[in-house]
Amino acid sequence: MDMLISLDKVERVYGRGSSAVKALDIGKLQIDRGEFVAVTGPSGGGKTTLLNLLGALDRPSRGRILVDGKDLTALGGGALCRYRREKVGFIFQAYCLLPTLSALQNVLTPALPQGAGRATRDRARQLLRRVGLAGAEKRLPGELSGGEQQRVAIARALLLDPDLILADEPTGNLDSVNGKGIIELLKDLHEMGKTVLVASHDQRVADSCSRVLRLVDGALVS
Ligand SMILES: Nc1ncnc2c1ncn2[C@@H]1O[C@H](COP(=O)(O)OP(=O)(O)OP(=O)(O)O)[C@@H](O)[C@H]1O
Ligand SMILES: [Mg+2]
Repeated sequence: MDMLISLDKVERVYGRGSSAVKALDIGKLQIDRGEFVAVTGPSGGGKTTLLNLLGALDRPSRGRILVDGKDLTALGGGALCRYRREKVGFIFQAYCLLPTLSALQNVLTPALPQGAGRATRDRARQLLRRVGLAGAEKRLPGELSGGEQQRVAIARALLLDPDLILADEPTGNLDSVNGKGIIELLKDLHEMGKTVLVASHDQRVADSCSRVLRLVDGALVS
């Protein structure tokens, strides 16, 4: 198999001195391209910390993180921005849409630095159709249900066709029916060949994926 992610002796310590908390301590972890991985474990186990490191929203205190052959810990500001924008699609529990932009404009935000041309706008419309939101292009996030907002967030995560999808509790704010719809969409992404990591307490996520990682007190347990 083709390895996409490799962690080597990665630690993330928050705070310092007597208030230091070791949120993550992973000796070795490898994830192949195309895997669908659920990250589970109790609250405070380190799930969000791991996803933030993989998405380069945060840096480890120690160790090395390779994604697609690139050492994230060695990248500078500009390269990190490009990595976050082009290689990774993020989906958050709280959707994190921009409230004053329409659904279509929200989907287009990853393209904003260079501006969205005709082809990109067409792709955004097509992605909204794919997540079941044809006709909702002009609506503001406040005019959409939670499940619909999360589907806009998924379309946004896909705009620049990233290899890696990171979803942190994507069904955490949703009822069971809407949650199921989001899990189905994540499964579709996996079937399209994306590498998908989902942090979740939702048993249905663990049941749908090809591998379950369990984090307790920052460590992987089997
Ligand atoms: N910014 C921070 N400053 C200090 N400690 C933090 C910070 N973020 C997280 N922690 C601590 O790191 C540990 C891991 O937190 P993390 O958010 O990764 O857990 P989690 O598995 O995502 O939990 P949950 O299921 O509640 O989302 C916890 O002990 C938490 O209190
Ligand atoms: Mg979390």
